[in-house]
Amino acid sequence: MSSVQEMKALLTPKSIAIIGASSKDNAIGNIVVKNLIESHFEGAIYPINPKAPEIRGIKAYPSILDVPGEVDMAVFCVPAKAVLGAAEECAKKHVKGYVIITSGFSEIGHEGAEVEKKIVEVAHSGGGRVMGPNIVGVLLNGSKANASFAPCLPLDGKTALISQSGALLISLDMNTFVRHLGASSMISLGNMSDVDFADCINFYAEDDKTNCIGLYIEGLKNGRAFIEAGRKAGKPIVALKSGVSAHGAAAAASHTGSLAGSVKVYDAAFKQAHVIRARDLDELLDCSQALALQPVMKGENICVVTNGGGIGVLSSDSAEAYGVPLKTAPADLQVEFKKCMPDFGSAKNPVDITGGAGLKGYEDAIAVALKSDWVNGLAVLYCETANTEPDEIAEGILAAVKNNGTNGKPIVTCFVGGFKCQAAGKKLIEAGIPFYENPDKAMRALSALRQAALFQEEGIADDYVPAKDVDQAAARAVIAAARADGRSVLTEPEAKKVFAAYGLPVGKALVAKTEDEAVKMAAEIGYPLVMKIVSPQIIHKSDAGGVKVNIKDEAGVRAAWKTIMDNAKAFIAKKDIKDAAIHGILLQSMAPLGKEVIVGSVNDPQFGPTVMFGMGGIFVEVLKDVTFRVAPFSQKTAMGMLPEIKSYKILQGTRGEKRLDQERLSEIISRISQLVSELSDEIAETDANPIMLYPEGEGLAVVDARIILKKK
Ligand code: ACO
Repeated sequence: MSSVQEMKALLTPKSIAIIGASSKDNAIGNIVVKNLIESHFEGAIYPINPKAPEIRGIKAYPSILDVPGEVDMAVFCVPAKAVLGAAEECAKKHVKGYVIITSGFSEIGHEGAEVEKKIVEVAHSGGGRVMGPNIVGVLLNGSKANASFAPCLPLDGKTALISQSGALLISLDMNTFVRHLGASSMISLGNMSDVDFADCINFYAEDDKTNCIGLYIEGLKNGRAFIEAGRKAGKPIVALKSGVSAHGAAAAASHTGSLAGSVKVYDAAFKQAHVIRARDLDELLDCSQALALQPVMKGENICVVTNGGGIGVLSSDSAEAYGVPLKTAPADLQVEFKKCMPDFGSAKNPVDITGGAGLKGYEDAIAVALKSDWVNGLAVLYCETANTEPDEIAEGILAAVKNNGTNGKPIVTCFVGGFKCQAAGKKLIEAGIPFYENPDKAMRALSALRQAALFQEEGIADDYVPAKDVDQAAARAVIAAARADGRSVLTEPEAKKVFAAYGLPVGKALVAKTEDEAVKMAAEIGYPLVMKIVSPQIIHKSDAGGVKVNIKDEAGVRAAWKTIMDNAKAFIAKKDIKDAAIHGILLQSMAPLGKEVIVGSVNDPQFGPTVMFGMGGIFVEVLKDVTFRVAPFSQKTAMGMLPEIKSYKILQGTRGEKRLDQERLSEIISRISQLVSELSDEIAETDANPIMLYPEGEGLAVVDARIILKKK
């Protein structure tokens, strides 16, 4: 069975057993039985209890093996020590879904994790999948199954909400009635011993009752499966990620490593997974509402119709902040809008029909906006006034939409006012029009609809095709030699050989073992040149006084040799480094000055190799102006990274300077992504830093290189 078929068997049950069903009123095993009855589950309910003959009027069985028919889902409400034994019985019965509410497994430590692993093995042996443990259960509106200890099924709707936290899921369940935002299902994932976010995305991507998938994520076990599932879902996904601290960064040895942190990596992974990131719970639910109810926004022109100048300006500020700035309406459209307002209104956009405008003003302006080819998305804003009734305005919006059609454009609303506005909002949402209580939320919703459209346009494939002119064997040989030498840090010449094998321009470089040899090599390379210490123990060469630049003649080579050697020896002595080895001094031609950029990679525990790009110098060190992607990825994806840094204007050419060679830069970033994913079994971190980037058509030069291997 495919993962989707297994998930279908689990999430569309026709029969449910409650293992540990209890007669005690407040026991979870009693509540689950009650919930299944009260949610009007139409399939068979089988309470399992060693002693009780019936529970809540339904015949009970001492063991699941005594149940006469098939059992699709078993909800576990027995204490932790009884779960494995009960799972073994379920496996014999070929139960398809194990919904394990019980706590006390991997979340409490190693011993619990071991039992959890065994439970999954047992379930798989009988062809079942495990949800949890440590969950509230699952709430499935399609099957009318409240197989959980949440109070009731959520309001029915078009969003599948999937949460790692059970308590949060329960609270969102009840919140659906307050927000009038329904859910097709609510899934609690807990410890994710087996079923994870990717499994759920794969299933809900194919579920015709679900338009949008909303996620609350604490951590992922398989980041790559998540990216793949999200990308191929073809359905809007919005996610809130908690715990976004820079974990693990302190332990990283390379420059890139110290800049990696889960926030930036998650940002990158979400983009690659086509997941819209919500910053808080409100945003998760507000965006879900828009994505579930409205079509995506196929162009970038938002039109705002408002009776209040203030909320109009606020919407304009928010739209800009969310990356979908309002534009002035074209002149012919302004002429049409002018007909819907008094002389003192504004037709520019926001279209301010003014406080004096009543229902008719709204209906007319909405009709103009909906018919216009220029408008791609519409926000109707309203301030409660004494000359209008919120309910009438809501009715007017619905009538305008009904009479004119939306022509595939999304429409959102925002009413600022009192209880009447709330009631009008309920009416709008029930009719499929998103409603928000402030203009910022309305603009955030439209920006999410725009983002979803851009993801759709991007398509499923990343169009990554590995470069063919690479020599993986040569790169592996360099690494093997370093390993044979007992090292996990490559020297600069070794790192450059690995980079060169993947087509990176590292320039000509030779390592001299003696001063005289250095003089000969210098003549071969040509002046001016750079000399650098080669020692596996000296990673930050400049800090150790191990670098001399702009050497112009033989005397310079001899002077540099002495200084570098003296400095390196002093550094080794000062740091008291045992068994330090000096391999010699590297001589390389001096790359002409360009704009310094950095490309590096680090292994993320959840996503594997990730590649970072940023401008060099203070931009990277002080401002941490960098961006990431999960490797490998295409040159096109790499191109998309460049505008994400704040100093992007430098790449575009500032103050009369030429645009820099972004094409070559993006090719190199993609090549590094290929290198670190093809050699992911060996490489922990890399830095190409600095890279001298030259004007368009002139390429770049990798000036320094660092590769740190995985510990084996
Ligand atoms: N087969 C069938 N029934 C069994 C078995 C078995 N092998 N073993 C025990 N039972 C029965 C018991 O006899 C009892 O029934 P009874 O009341 O008729 O005697 C029933 O199962 C329950 O057993 P209890 O020992 O009473 O367990 P209790 O109900 O106290 O606790 C529970 C079980 C709820 C699963 C508990 O162990 C637990 O894990 N609680 C935490 C649940 C939770 O919070 N999950 C995370 C949600 S996420 C969030 O944060 C909200």
